[in-house]
Amino acid sequence: MTQQKEIMTTQSKELFDIWENSWKEQKPTEFLGRNRAHPSRKEATDQVKAHTDEGDTILEIGPGAGFDYADYFREEAQQGKFNYIMYEGTPRLARSLGRRFPEVTVRNKHLQNIKEEEADVIYVRCVFEHQPNLEDSLPIVLTGAKKAVVVTWFLPPAKVERIYYHPDGHWNNIYAKDSITAIANAQGWQCSCEFYTDGEQSGSNRRYFTQVFTRKA
Ligand SMILES: C[S@@+](CC[C@H](N)C(=O)[O-])C[C@H]1O[C@@H](n2cnc3c(N)ncnc32)[C@H](O)[C@@H]1O
Repeated sequence: MTQQKEIMTTQSKELFDIWENSWKEQKPTEFLGRNRAHPSRKEATDQVKAHTDEGDTILEIGPGAGFDYADYFREEAQQGKFNYIMYEGTPRLARSLGRRFPEVTVRNKHLQNIKEEEADVIYVRCVFEHQPNLEDSLPIVLTGAKKAVVVTWFLPPAKVERIYYHPDGHWNNIYAKDSITAIANAQGWQCSCEFYTDGEQSGSNRRYFTQVFTRKA
């Protein structure tokens, strides 16, 4: 990787400050409960469904409180239109998801355990930012999908990477778009669609970024 890390450009500093300030206002666990109404959830889950055929398996990584499953997938999953699997690394959250959504296969496992082509479509929202290393985690996720991977970033890509370890005990990294693209391309995937979603209508000043990865022809 030739990306320059640990250097704050104006752009990444601005993003970092937004994150830092919003983090200070909340307890660590509360970040799971924020932005349920953010329109990026609907836009990203629409992309997941657009790549899902009847009977397919959707895998969601790091669903947290399970908002997106409850709001956008549950009804169709219960009708048997697709199978739904969750990989949730936090034990307390995995237990809660399993209790609330008995029709879902919930694995209390980290994404590092995903098997090759385990699902048709993988959905990842606000999770890669927390991984210590995108060079390791993104290829595992891409390998786990047959057709498409939909990724939403709460810290949209910047020109350079900012790798940051939060005192509360987790990473909050901003990745460079060139790195994301290079990693995906090296695995035989391309970004076939990407868009930003503003959140004013939901009362949020956050701008989320969604990318849809598909296998190169
Ligand atoms: C910021 S929360 C996002 C929750 C949810 N996707 C949402 O947007 O509401 C990140 C979630 O990813 C989970 N997580 C972080 N790293 C993970 C990993 N390596 N494998 C599985 N889950 C992970 C955390 O436990 C947490 O539930």
